[in-house]
Amino acid sequence: MTSPALDASPPLGLLDLFGDGFVRDPHPWLDTLRAQAPVRHDPGTGLWLVSRHQDVLRVLLDPDAFRPDNAQHAVTPLPVAALRVLARSGFRLAPALANNGTASHPGLRRLVTRFFHARRVAAAVPVIERVADELLGTAQEQLDASGGCDLFPSFAQILPCRVLMELLGIDGVSPATLIRWSDASLELFWGRPAPQRQLELAALVAEFHQWLTRAVTDGAASPGSFLASLAAHRLPDGEPLDVHTAVGACFFVFIAGQSTTGQLIATVLRLALAEPGLWSRLADEPGLAEAWVEEVLRREPPVTTWRRVTARPVELGGVELPGGAQLLLMLMGSGSDPEVFSAPEDMCPHRADVRRHLAFGAGRHRCPGASLARTEAAVALRTAARRLPDIRTAAAEYAPMLGLLSFRAPLRVAVERP
Ligand code: HEM
Repeated sequence: MTSPALDASPPLGLLDLFGDGFVRDPHPWLDTLRAQAPVRHDPGTGLWLVSRHQDVLRVLLDPDAFRPDNAQHAVTPLPVAALRVLARSGFRLAPALANNGTASHPGLRRLVTRFFHARRVAAAVPVIERVADELLGTAQEQLDASGGCDLFPSFAQILPCRVLMELLGIDGVSPATLIRWSDASLELFWGRPAPQRQLELAALVAEFHQWLTRAVTDGAASPGSFLASLAAHRLPDGEPLDVHTAVGACFFVFIAGQSTTGQLIATVLRLALAEPGLWSRLADEPGLAEAWVEEVLRREPPVTTWRRVTARPVELGGVELPGGAQLLLMLMGSGSDPEVFSAPEDMCPHRADVRRHLAFGAGRHRCPGASLARTEAAVALRTAARRLPDIRTAAAEYAPMLGLLSFRAPLRVAVERP
């Protein structure tokens, strides 16, 4: 999944953010954007692509000039039929977390942060290890029986969902259902689905929304759970949260807390298996799994882009942007900016400045789940290397890729015993 040496820059006029070429290997395009057109209007999506590390960081650190309001807008406009399906379920994405530039954001963010701060994550390590071990036990049985298995559905995808359910006290729904709802939401709002597919996805998102609304309003949340904390939350004016805002917060946390981490684990596993000599060292070498995860976050992050909108006319990277310009921050490209990272195309675990990557954003909206995501991915990698020391990527494996506007990862991690 790394780019070959560049002989020629790909012509930016052919750039298609959803096209197979870009999804399979975005790096040649990202390199060209940074070098030739660091702030460039993309006619396919109407978004301004911002690709240099310093410009991306400037935008993230100035939420007054670059607002987060468009973070969850559907990039492919929804047809009336799909909008009707959503409206019938009462669906409305009120500003809550990632899309909230109002005064209610800091309090809601504090609420979320309480559930995912470093101490709580450290205490969750035994839970992560237990679930990882259980899932890998099943994968091992499958390997014993058939000689191969796919670690994406059986492990990478399900581990973060199970952990999130335990940490937030979510019950009354199966992990498979939560994953289906979450993936449908990503595809509907960040994908380029055809109209018929949009209808199917809208039906799933509507189901998800109705379930969340019931969970938020039925008063049955167990004490100390995330839902109970939302119910007890007070806004700056002392009022409780309205239902739409509470559902909006849950919607984002439930999606962000599992799909993205599953995508990270899939990439981490695939790249580790492809790196000569690495797998056998991961089981016992202290800090190596953590360092590998960090390097993957820099070079191949699961959240490849994030959106902002200009509050007023503003200059960025030498380009005059009008007010209301929709920006697409190329987080993935910023992690390979040679102005910040030397030899960015090389995977160098333990590189000194790796934490300067922007895979989790920066500033007021920086991902509050970063510590959980890092820990889960490192535990997943180490446990897999210990439990399955003798696996390799299945021969002739060609993994299909998830290629949404902001999310990219392999959808299969097929492995076999040599
Ligand atoms: C590898 C996994 C993950 C990645 C790459 C990731 C990335 C991101 C990014 C890029 C943002 C936007 C940052 C910004 O606007 O500056 C974000 C926001 C957010 N993430 Fe994550 N995330 C991950 C996992 C998680 C997890 C595990 C959780 C929760 C358990 C979570 C919860 C959130 C929330 C609530 C926000 C919005 C914060 C706010 O607006 O204040 N994320 N994440």
